[in-house]
Amino acid sequence: MMEAAAGNRPDHVPADRVVDFNIFAPPGAEQDYFAAWLSLLDGPGLVWSTANGGHWIGARGDIVRDIWGDAARFSNAALAVTPGLGEVMNFIPLQQDPPEHKPFRMAVMKGMAHQHIVAMEPTVRAEAQSLIEGLNGGNGCDFMQDFAEILPVNMFLTLIGVPTDDRTKLRPLGQQLTRPDGSMTVVELRDAADNYLEPYVKARLENPGQDLFGRILSVPIDDRPWSFDEAQRMCRNLLFGGLDTVVAMLGNMLLHLATHPQDQQRLRDDPKLIPDAVDELMRRYPTVSVTRNCVEDSEIDGVTIKSGDLIYLPSVIHNLDPRSFDRPEVVDFERKLAPIRHTTMGTGPHRCVGAGLARTEAIIVLQEWLASIPPFRLAEGAKPSFRPGNVGALSCLQLCW
Ligand code: HEM
Repeated sequence: MMEAAAGNRPDHVPADRVVDFNIFAPPGAEQDYFAAWLSLLDGPGLVWSTANGGHWIGARGDIVRDIWGDAARFSNAALAVTPGLGEVMNFIPLQQDPPEHKPFRMAVMKGMAHQHIVAMEPTVRAEAQSLIEGLNGGNGCDFMQDFAEILPVNMFLTLIGVPTDDRTKLRPLGQQLTRPDGSMTVVELRDAADNYLEPYVKARLENPGQDLFGRILSVPIDDRPWSFDEAQRMCRNLLFGGLDTVVAMLGNMLLHLATHPQDQQRLRDDPKLIPDAVDELMRRYPTVSVTRNCVEDSEIDGVTIKSGDLIYLPSVIHNLDPRSFDRPEVVDFERKLAPIRHTTMGTGPHRCVGAGLARTEAIIVLQEWLASIPPFRLAEGAKPSFRPGNVGALSCLQLCW
């Protein structure tokens, strides 16, 4: 990604708001993604990064949450800080503003409704058990490579009725979307996803059937059928939404339990705590950041955000700001917050439609892992390393038991 360039500060941005902070490479993020972002909490609530063309960053919890939820002044429709991403991907429903967004979102919500997620539970459990068995009675693994990068992707492919063998083709695409390394242009990335999906999109438009895409495409949009273009943009959105985010979440949960043996033991002693633990771990380890486009000049935190400015909103800044949550860095299974209060899954009209699926997967993974794997910890000398980006994720997590 582009380096900081002093020229990327427009006149309306005060000089004292400028930070040397590239969202794709926050200082120290490879060792600790969360701590690297939290360094911004010491300064003003809105700062300006000159990297990647120049953009605002929400640097206080309430500011991140308020802008995220304010679809009238902060649109999701056009550009993203990742160069080219917004214009090229044109995701449905992610890049639609209300009211256009509503009927598409309703269709996706119907397709992901609770009963369909409940129906997936035995498949998720069987997949978790099979991956654990595949560890072959050994005494350690790279949790990312051997488990986290497989289960959620296979579950998504099962939901859309596609062979799970395709995982190896699709997984790198998810990584390029959220942590681009320059090896593919955004257009190449979109085309790779579309070429893969095209036969399925066409088939489901003709004969929807009962899989996820079919369920969504059979819901009319304002009393008319979906066009091919709309169907393709929606399937593209779901594909990318389901590929990388759960991988990142599972990695952080296992890292926490590996490094906090008392929390691990509590869940072994009382597995009924697992759903609350999952909610709290999801709050504590948020990895997604989003971009909004200002469409109306707005005074916030003593500065003017001008129409046309981009604002980057990291959920980590909201969830781990002590002004948002009491002792936010502490994992407290008794916290019992409604998941809607934190921004791990976003807030406002675009809040994640996959939240129920992600939570179900996490609960089943912890249940099965703790039931089968003895007390585990980080392997001797292992240093977890993170890859920052729009979804920050561990690149490897060597565990032993
Ligand atoms: C732990 C896992 C996940 C996390 C942390 C996550 C996070 C998010 C966030 C923060 C948003 C809001 C984006 C914005 O406001 O711009 C979002 C939206 C979305 N997510 Fe997820 N997500 C996860 C899993 C999934 C899964 C499994 C799917 C699909 C199978 C999915 C599909 C979507 C879609 C389609 C949207 C757009 C919703 C809309 O615009 O109305 N997500 N997600």
